[in-house]
Amino acid sequence: MNKQEKLDELKKKMSLDESLPLRKGATNLVFGVGNPDGGILLIGEGPGYWEDQKGEPFIGNAGKFLDSLLLSIKLQRRDVYITNVVHHRPPENRDPLPSEIVSYGRYLDGIIDIIDPEIIVTLGRFSMGKFLPDTKISSVHGKKFTVNWNDKDYIVVPMYHPAAGLRSIGVKRETMSDFAKLPEYLAEVKNNKEINKKEAEQMNLI
Ligand code: URA
Repeated sequence: MNKQEKLDELKKKMSLDESLPLRKGATNLVFGVGNPDGGILLIGEGPGYWEDQKGEPFIGNAGKFLDSLLLSIKLQRRDVYITNVVHHRPPENRDPLPSEIVSYGRYLDGIIDIIDPEIIVTLGRFSMGKFLPDTKISSVHGKKFTVNWNDKDYIVVPMYHPAAGLRSIGVKRETMSDFAKLPEYLAEVKNNKEINKKEAEQMNLI
């Protein structure tokens, strides 16, 4: 099975899971969208009104800003994979509760495991909190961290939520400059992987 087939299987399982706490009030499951082989996984907070209506993450105003951030580094939403920490809309767009983040976390972990991204970009404090608890977004945004998650090392880059960039011109500028670092980070991760692969091949030859 390729990554997309595995994601489809997980989505089906999730759509049948009656235990998910936000399921009752939601119109659609908002699982995720994009290219699972693109190397970048973006994780937001949770679906809003339009996402709930259409079943696709980040298609409202924050999503339009996210699209423009991606375009600024010559990427389109179809080049990356986009998902959220909770996959049903919280009532009245309230913040997801810690217990809800845990319930949906099993599926988010499944998505991360299947995609096995080169870089995870967290959008906002809820997805950052999953990998970098007790961290202040204002002091770490745009920096890259190596995080061991379920026995695998991932490069995690915390960023402000795009909606915060729509509320503050300062945050907007900072988010644009954080996004501008992504191509360099991605090239670095790929380069390191290549070096490790060559070293492993040489070790096998000795
Ligand atoms: N905000 C999010 O965090 N996720 C979405 O999908 C939409 C808005």
